[in-house]
Amino acid sequence: MASPRVLSGIQPTGDSFHLGNYLGAVRQWVALQETHDAFYFIADLHAITVNPSPAELRRRTRVSAAQLFGAGIDPERSTLFVQSHVREHSELAWILMCNTGMGEAARMTQFKDKSAKYGETSAGVGLFTYPILQAADILMYQADYVPVGGDQKQHLELTRDLAQRFNARYGETFNVPAPYILKEVEKIGDLQEPLAKMSKSSSSPQGIIEVMEEPGPLRKKIMRAVTDTGSEVVADPENKPGVTNLLRIQSVFTGTPIPELEARYAGLGYGAFKKDVAEVVIEALAPIRERTEKLLTNEAELDRLLAAGAARASAVARETMELVRDHIGFLPKP
Ligand code: TYM
Repeated sequence: MASPRVLSGIQPTGDSFHLGNYLGAVRQWVALQETHDAFYFIADLHAITVNPSPAELRRRTRVSAAQLFGAGIDPERSTLFVQSHVREHSELAWILMCNTGMGEAARMTQFKDKSAKYGETSAGVGLFTYPILQAADILMYQADYVPVGGDQKQHLELTRDLAQRFNARYGETFNVPAPYILKEVEKIGDLQEPLAKMSKSSSSPQGIIEVMEEPGPLRKKIMRAVTDTGSEVVADPENKPGVTNLLRIQSVFTGTPIPELEARYAGLGYGAFKKDVAEVVIEALAPIRERTEKLLTNEAELDRLLAAGAARASAVARETMELVRDHIGFLPKP
């Protein structure tokens, strides 16, 4: 029997992914490629919802690909591609839009947050239809599981609803996918505002750890991370969100259960604890950064890997779209 399929995407919206992206999603992508038929992509169609400059978009798309390979995505085991290289994504998004209610789309909290930021009338229509394109990405590959952070839950609910509706209206077409979200890492907090998720649009760069960050500034950020009143290193998401966030980070990187860490730092205070967290993060990110930098020196090789990924992804997309077009009633192309 074929292995179950996983699919996920990441936007090329910065020059580096942050620790939330890595721990919440990419680290699971790397693990899952061992046991699953894995499809991962750089969501450049999604990234243009906020109109980056063409030069910026090109650079960030390549940097993103290099970081994913650098983080351990193996081009032999996974299909890694650029979303816009598989033209069918836009076509399926349109078809799904025609099967989505306005109210259903308007309920998406990410849209509400983003449109509030840009102003209700100046937010682009693409931001509104963003989750429907995301549903198209997922359903195109008949994915079984979608490894993501907790902030994507609602988009996955919509995806499941759209798949079920389409199947009911037009006959069995799409596999209904399930989210794959790990509790411990579903929301990595901002270092300065630990109740908020670490995010590219955070109010202060001090709150974000970038995967490509040099050890010096990285250590400083962790040493200056907001901790909570008291001096005990214990996990308490409500009263000690800052310490809890750092404990989670240290725990996933070292594979040490949180209670064991709590015992280790009993009586030692925040300083010693943060120093160790910083070293653990630096050590874990250094090889990713080095591999990424090396890959970026060979653009031709990077583009070759992405072309191979696009070819494999396109083969699946073509097959799904033949089914979709037929089920919906489009005449075959003469
Ligand atoms: P994006 O690019 O914002 O984020 C990529 C992945 O990182 C996760 N993530 C986090 N996880 C834990 N803690 C955090 N602080 C944190 N910040 C980000 C996100 O949940 C995500 O898994 N809409 C998607 C991209 C996308 C996609 C798809 C994902 C487009 N099409 C199809 C899955 C399937 C997004 O904006 O991710």
